[in-house]
Order: sequence, then structure tokens, then C-alpha cells
Amino acid sequence: TYIVLLGPPGAGKGTQAEVISESLKLAHISSGDIFRENMKNETELGKMAQGYINRGELVPDDVTIAMIRERLLRPDCVNGAVLDGFPRTPAQADALEGMLKELGGTVHRVPYINVPSEVLVKRLSGRWTCRQGHVYHVVFNPPQVPGKCDVDGLELFQREDDQPATVERRIRVYLEQTSPLIEYYRERGLLSEVDGTQAIDKVTADLLAAIQKG
Ligand code: AP5
Ligand code: ZN
Repeated sequence: TYIVLLGPPGAGKGTQAEVISESLKLAHISSGDIFRENMKNETELGKMAQGYINRGELVPDDVTIAMIRERLLRPDCVNGAVLDGFPRTPAQADALEGMLKELGGTVHRVPYINVPSEVLVKRLSGRWTCRQGHVYHVVFNPPQVPGKCDVDGLELFQREDDQPATVERRIRVYLEQTSPLIEYYRERGLLSEVDGTQAIDKVTADLLAAIQKG
């Protein structure tokens, strides 16, 4: 079962992918987390991606597709995966279809987490994460101990690309380059729209219902 979580920056893709992948026993593939891990380790991929990410632009399709392809071929993805942050362009979506065909699978459902832009800015400005990708919010989802991850005790930090000017850029890039995927998947009968402004638990319940129905 391959699930694609679609939605603007700050919609809650990472937050929800964590819970849903656990609950459905699927791998969680976050393109953003893989890029950030590579940036931290200063790999070739990380150095290449860093400029794009810090400017709030998309990393080129060929690089991103190759990275996801490698990830999808790992053994923990045999039963499927929850994809969070990929695909982000129609070319990436076409490539995903081809990769899954090779693996004998298809995209099962594409929940679209809909959140208006003004809410996104508030969410991203209050977001704190650990380097494993666990996500918190100072007001909406605070950690038990301030500054520490509940899951692994790691230090929490704010992302470089969550500065207001970069957030604006990311939202604009989403609207221009990624939002066409809403129609792309609607035409294929795979899209389920979920109201992402609800409480985190309620969004999870709606997402699981959409996935089970599809
Ligand atoms: P990526 O890491 O994917 O960033 P993003 O898509 O901008 O998504 P975010 O991680 O910002 O938001 P989210 O939807 O996961 O929300 P979250 O759960 O954290 O990508 C980063 C960069 O990498 C891109 O800009 C690009 O440069 C590059 N990149 C990545 N993938 C790429 C690709 N495929 N192609 C090319 N380039 C790529 O939630 C946000 C906040 O809100 C948190 O604080 C959370 O606690 C809070 N929150 C969540 N849900 C709720 C709720 N229901 N109510 C209240 N608060 C909530
Ligand atoms: Zn953590």
C-alpha cells in the first residue's frame, strides 16, 4: 500500500505521516527529512540540495527522483510506504508511477490535507523539530519537556527555512509547482480531501478513514 500525502508546507504532512505509517505498519518516506539528514552529514547530495532548500525552492526533479527511487527499493518498503513531500511536481508524480510499477505496486490513495495560507504561516513560525524528524509546535503541540523530543529526548530546533520570507516563498512555490497535483490525482480517482485545520487527532481519523475507504 503506497499512500501519498499531499498538502502545502505546514499542512501537517510530517505530523500525520508519523502516526499513520505507525498505525498501518508502513515505512515513512519524507523527502525533506532525507535532504536534511544529507545536509547535516555534508554528503554530495546534501551540499547540492542546501541552496535550494534554504531559498525555499524545489530541488531539481532528477536529483529528487533518484533519491526517492533508492529509498523505495529498501526492504522496509516491501509492504508499502507513506510518502510525505514527494511527489511535488507532475514529473515526479509520473516518475513515481513508473517506480511503483517496477515494484509491482501503485498509488493506493492521495489524501490532500487542505489548510489555508494564513494558518500555515502561524504553524511554521511556531514549529520545533528534532533531527529524527519528530515535529512539535509551541502552542498547538508542545513537547512534555520544553526543548526536548518526547520520543527520543533529542534537542529541538527551528528549521532554517521556517523564517517568514522563506515560508512565503515555499507557499508560492507550492501553489505554482505542486498544487497542479491536486487535479492530477483527482483525474485518476485517487484524491481524498481532508480538512487540515481540525485538531491533530481529528485529522488523523479523517486520513485513516479516507485511506480505508480507498
Ligand atoms: P519538507 O520538509 O517536505 O517541507 P514542507 O513540504 O514545506 O513541509 P513541512 O515539513 O514544512 O510541513 P508539514 O506539512 O510536514 O507540516 P508539519 O507536520 O511539520 O521540504 C523542505 C524542502 O526540501 C522544500 O522546500 C524543498 O526545497 C525540498 N524538497 C522536499 N521534497 C522535495 C521534492 N519532492 N522535490 C523537490 N524539493 C523537495 O506541521 C507544521 C507545524 O504545524 C508543526 O509545528 C505541527 O506541530 C503543527 N501542526 C500540524 N498539524 C496541526 C494541526 N492539525 N493543528 C495545529 N497545529 C498543527
Ligand atoms: Zn525525536
